[in-house]
Amino acid sequence: MADRPAPFQLALLNHKGGTGKTTLAINLAAGLAQRAPTLLVDLDAQGSALQWAAQGGGKLPMRVSAALEAEAALVADVHPAFVVWDCPPSSDQPQVLALLAKLDWVLVPVLPSPVDLWASWHLVRLLQQARANRPALRAAFVINQAEPDSALTAAMHEALHEFGLPVLQSVVRRRALYRSAALGGQTVQMLGRRGAAAAAELEAVIEAILK
Ligand SMILES: Nc1ncnc2c1ncn2[C@@H]1O[C@H](COP(=O)(O)OP(=O)(O)OP(=O)(O)O)[C@@H](O)[C@H]1O
Ligand SMILES: [Mg+2]
Repeated sequence: MADRPAPFQLALLNHKGGTGKTTLAINLAAGLAQRAPTLLVDLDAQGSALQWAAQGGGKLPMRVSAALEAEAALVADVHPAFVVWDCPPSSDQPQVLALLAKLDWVLVPVLPSPVDLWASWHLVRLLQQARANRPALRAAFVINQAEPDSALTAAMHEALHEFGLPVLQSVVRRRALYRSAALGGQTVQMLGRRGAAAAAELEAVIEAILK
């Protein structure tokens, strides 16, 4: 069998809970799946991404796999060009540390709240260390649940710059649609015109990562 190029691997990581790792992993994976076959690996024992996929009755445009099945799925019929890892709210687990050795990109979703930011120092140091060992690894914050034109989001951008980790210019807005998509086991891209604005903001995030 001819050698296939290694897949591009992206992880959604933040040891703080509830910042949008699973929501972004699912919806970004769906955006990537519009380009090429994509595998989403649920590394979290909570199994939220697997639950999301089950809720939709297998209609998601990408394969969603549990961690232990991941390697097998990679060599099975998916042959993914993109692998997206939905991480648990922890950065010290051996699985997460092992992952850092092979990723192309780490996105750290943060809520536009100083309390969330203060919790990020440990993770930033971990990522800086990983980047020192492997400069090809890229990492950035992405602000999730941003309010439109909010002074707080602008202030967050400024504050995040002091952390020594880039922050994506594109933000993900707070939209009830992300929650209703989860309820139906769907992604915002599957919601047609209703999901168009959300899909467009995710496209901007994908463009920033792939450029
Ligand atoms: N942009 C958004 N707009 C509105 N609601 C959102 C958005 N992003 C996430 N949420 C909601 O916020 C909650 C937490 O999101 P999610 O489960 O994706 O976070 P998480 O980081 O994966 O959490 P955990 O650390 O528990 O795995 C969920 O109820 C989700 O529907
Ligand atoms: Mg999660």
